[in-house]
Formats: sequence, C-alpha cells, structure tokens
Amino acid sequence: MIQKYRYGNPFDTEAIITSMETAEGDPAVGSISLSEGFTFSYTMADADIVYGLGESNRGINKRGYRYVSHCADDPNHTEDKVSLYGAHNFIIISGKTHVGFFFDYPGDLCFDIGYTRQSLLTVSCADADLFLYVITGTSAYDVTKQFRSVIGRSYIPPKFAFGFGQSRWGYRTAEDFRTVVTKYRNEHLPIDMLYMDIDYMDAYKDFTVNPEEFPDFPAFVAEMQAQKIHLVPIIDAGVKIEDGYDIYEEGKKGGYFCKREDGTDFAAAVWPGMTHFPDVLNPDAREWFGSKYDVLLSAGIDGFWNDMNEPAIFYSEESIAELDTFLQDYLDGKVEGTQPHWILGTQLGALANNPADYRRFYHNINGQQVRHDTVHNLFGYNMTRAAGEAFARLAPDKRILMFSRSSYIGMHRYGGIWTGDNKSWWSHLLLNLKQLPSLNMCGFLYVGADLGGFGCDTTRDLALRWLALGVFTPLMRNHTAIGTREQEYYQFEDIADFRHLLGVRYRLIPYLYSEYMKAALGNDLYFKPLGFVYPDDAIARETEDQLLLGNEIMIAPVYTQNASGRYVYLPEEMMFVKFLPDGSISTEILPQGVHYVKIALNEVPLFIRKGRCIPVADAAESVPEIDSSTIQMLGYEDAAYERYDDDGVTPPEI
Ligand code: NOJ
Repeated sequence: MIQKYRYGNPFDTEAIITSMETAEGDPAVGSISLSEGFTFSYTMADADIVYGLGESNRGINKRGYRYVSHCADDPNHTEDKVSLYGAHNFIIISGKTHVGFFFDYPGDLCFDIGYTRQSLLTVSCADADLFLYVITGTSAYDVTKQFRSVIGRSYIPPKFAFGFGQSRWGYRTAEDFRTVVTKYRNEHLPIDMLYMDIDYMDAYKDFTVNPEEFPDFPAFVAEMQAQKIHLVPIIDAGVKIEDGYDIYEEGKKGGYFCKREDGTDFAAAVWPGMTHFPDVLNPDAREWFGSKYDVLLSAGIDGFWNDMNEPAIFYSEESIAELDTFLQDYLDGKVEGTQPHWILGTQLGALANNPADYRRFYHNINGQQVRHDTVHNLFGYNMTRAAGEAFARLAPDKRILMFSRSSYIGMHRYGGIWTGDNKSWWSHLLLNLKQLPSLNMCGFLYVGADLGGFGCDTTRDLALRWLALGVFTPLMRNHTAIGTREQEYYQFEDIADFRHLLGVRYRLIPYLYSEYMKAALGNDLYFKPLGFVYPDDAIARETEDQLLLGNEIMIAPVYTQNASGRYVYLPEEMMFVKFLPDGSISTEILPQGVHYVKIALNEVPLFIRKGRCIPVADAAESVPEIDSSTIQMLGYEDAAYERYDDDGVTPPEI
C-alpha cells in the first residue's frame, strides 16, 4: 500500500507518475517535526536493514552513516563522502516489518541512518515543502516493486548497448578513433561502441564537431558503422558563450538560459570557458535544448552520454571577481587573522561547485523565478529528459542510447547512468558492485561504472577483475581520464585473457538482455541483494559482495588483489560455473553453505540457482553477430527458461 503526504508547497518533480490522493495527517510510522524545516524520525530495530539511496556511498545496507542528497561533481569518492552525482531519496527499512519512504524533495536532503544515534534514522531538509510517500509491504522486495510501479517504466536502451564500449578522455583526432577500432577488430576483442569525450567537439561547443578532424562527420559515422561500431558522443550541460555560435545565439534570443535574479543570463566556467546553462526545468527551453540532439542524430549518431550536469561549475563571473578582490587584499596584507596563507588556499579550493553559485541563478517555471539551489537535484534529470523527449519526437521508431552523470528519480525513464569518476582502486570495484542493486531499487537499470577505473593508473589484474564484473553490468564501458595509463584492453600483456572475458559477455547477452527486458517491462530488479530473495537467511541478509542477477544466477566477483579465489556464501545449493579461457565451461554442484572457490584472473565465475538454467550463445565480436541458433541451455537438467527477445531497436509500447 502506498500513501502520499503533503507538506507545505512542494515542487512538482514529476518523479511519481501515478496520481494519488493525499492522505490526511502524518504517517502512522515514524514522527514528523516541522519546527525547523522538515525532520522525519524513525526508531530502527537492531535487526533492521536500510536499503535504497541509489547512487550513494558505502554499503548495500545504508545503516551507520549519513548521506546528503546533493548532486555533486566530486571525483574523489572516498569513504567519507556523503554526496555523489545522484539524488535518489528512496529508502526501505526491512526487518520484522517492511516500509519504504520516498522523500520527493529536489533540494539538499540529509539522511542520518544511525550515524548520530545507532537506532535513530532522521531525514531532514531546510524547507518543509515536499511530498512524502510511505509504502508498506510484505518484504523489502515487495516494497521496492510497489515503488517502481508508480515511478514509471525504466529506460530501455537499444540492444547494441549491451555490447562493450571503449572510451578515453583524450581521443581527439579521427585517426585516434580509427586506431582504437582497428586494434580491437584486429585483435578480435569484441566491441560495439566507441565513446567520444569532449575533444571531438569544436572548442567544447555542444552539438558541434571539430571541422578539421571531421570535415564530413556523417561519412565518419558511416565508416565506423561499417565496422559495426556505434559512436557515442558526450554532451555537456554548459553552452559556450561565443558570438555567432548558433546554439548560444538561439538560447540567448529565446531566453532559454538560466538567469540571475536581475534577468541577465548567469555565466559559469566549464570546459569551453564561460558558458550559460540551458534552463531544462522550463518546458520550452527543454524542448529547444532537446531538439539540438538532432544535429548529431541526423549525422547517424544513435547514442549519447550527458555530462557535467549537476551542473558542474569551475567558477562563476561573480566568484572569480570575489576571488580577485580577495587576492588584492591578500597581496596588500589586508586579510585578517593569523593564517591568511591558509585562508588563501581554502578560497582557491572553494571556487568550484560553490554553494553560493547555486544560489545565484534561477529557473523560469510557469513564469515564476525558482532559485536553483532549491531544485538543484533536478538539473541532470531534466537535461536527460530534454534528450529523451526529443528522441521520442525525432526518432520515434528507434531506441537511442542515453545515460547521464547526474540524476534524480524520474530520470530513470529517460536514460541510464554511469557512476562517474571512480578511481583505479580495488575498493571502487567493490563499491561498483554494492551500488548496483540500490540503483535498481530506484529505477535505474541501465547502469555501470568506468571499468578499470577513471582516475589513477590501473593495473592488469585490476582491469581483468573489474572486467569480470563488467561482464554482468548492462552498461559495460572501459573509460579513463586524460593523463592516466593507457587502458584499452589491447594495451596489456596476454590480450587473450581480455578477449576471453569480453567473449563471455557476448555469450551471456541472450540471458542478460532477456533479464534486463523482463526487469524493465515488469518494474522488477535486474540486480538484487541476496536478502531480497532469501529474507529469512541471516547470512544472506548480511552478504554485500554477491548479487542475484535476474531470476537464475548469482554473481560473486573477486575484488581483492593477488587473490586466487574467494569465499562465497550459497543460501541454497547452486551450480558453480566457470567460463574457462579455452572456451569450455566447468560446472560443479555445491551444497548450501560457505565455500572457497578458485577463480583465476582469466576466468568468469557465476552460480546458477538450483533447478534453473540460462541460455548461452557462442562468443561473437559484436552484438549483431550473436547467433541465436547456437544458443544452448546451461544449468540444471530438465530446467526451463523463457527467453525474452525482440529486434532490439523498436521502442516497446508503454
Ligand atoms: C567528467 C566525466 O565524469 C568524465 O567521464 C569525462 O571524461 C570528463 N568529464 C571530460 O569530459
């Protein structure tokens, strides 16, 4: 059962699409205080698990820490961080009873989940203007499915997007892209997508391509398509301020940019230098910005990634002027206090993504000026929605690949997400695993991390272990930052190991695609924590480094360096399967309990649940080359599997 409560004058985020009556009074569970903004308090029982919060830090069970929903451009995802790129305000408290809460509030929202007091959960925000949805159910899984049924169907990508994609910040020339494709194809490393980071653009201007490098861009797109490669360009939030640049001129003329209180266009520096932000919360501006994707669609592009859409701000005109004044004072010896040099460092460090800047600009919503910080978490959502709505108008018969860095619940209908600037750290491989089911609970099914790690130099063993997890994530992309060690899979010794792991992905696509589609069409989860399926099993409920994928398999990747295997907990008898480097598959029935399983760097393990089986194809080098006539069933004898399939292009009926 779902009940909706209204406090104050909430902003309509359009996260929930099912209309519901508002209940009288306060929820029967927990307590509400409106004395200072809004605070919800709930006493947790010792055995309660708190699930949810989508793309957030730490574990699957969110207890014991605090989290702030504030879409943040922060590339340092250390354990202490309370905000990442998404704001996914859905939690489930699951123990003897099972109750979910969705706080539909687009500004900063603080979750203290047993951080201040072990058994106390509080959720608070500055303004008591929100909708609160309370969902009661028979299990955490049931509560999640009820929630998913009111937020609308998750985004469905084209089937090619289940292939592997290579990316690197720094590919600039047509030759750079050709080299990567040639190496992948010559080495028989399977691949379907090549990502274009900001350097493909002309001076980092959205919806342009560097005319010197790509004088005939449609021909270049076609050249790649002939090699079964989809190019996937990045689009950034900020539109470069440059006289004569059509997007800037149109935006200015149409009044489509976010404005200061005095009505002038707010200016902030990002990659292109000074930019304006399209006011994607305004329906007219959203339609205008979305229509610009056609520049690339009509060149043959069928996939995009939306970046820097928290929106990230390096500095604003105002903040740089303030810094200038501060520097003058500093040089003139006028900065007061005992530590002016330290204050100088702090001032410089505080320039990017400064809260003051988010208070300096406004959205125009139904003729009302809405200050950005109060709706901050909706920007990435609406930038991606701009694209999704435009795709439905411009390419109604085709699915377009789309994923975003920043998001709010609701955006899951228009695109997937990647989890941003992780590092080549073993701890981030484990964080990647833990984020997956929480993201699914909040509707984000097409998800994945930068395999191998974005920041820092990766190592061969980390790249392989991370790839063995990436084999299972819907979005499977190797991406890394400019200046880091080259990370394409052909850069490492013994390429055969990478070829094998990538090949396993393609062998599993008939199953992975089928389970993805069943989850999307049925408002279900693709990745589930073990506790969702084995709620009465205390060990399963605590297991955070294994996941169920679809209804047939459990995954348990290796995430520690120099390990030749790992301990795994089986809540029931399962078939332990290994895809071996010679192309064969080993199987072994293991009884319920704890086992140490050996897993070499060049093997992909998975566990088939008792009495089930999965379809497995022969390895292929691209999605269209997967031969469904070679599909064989792997698993328990006499088990049956109903495989979903379609053309992978036509958008399914809503
Ligand atoms: C930040 C993104 O998170 C990253 O993936 C990208 O490479 C850089 N921006 C440059 O566009």
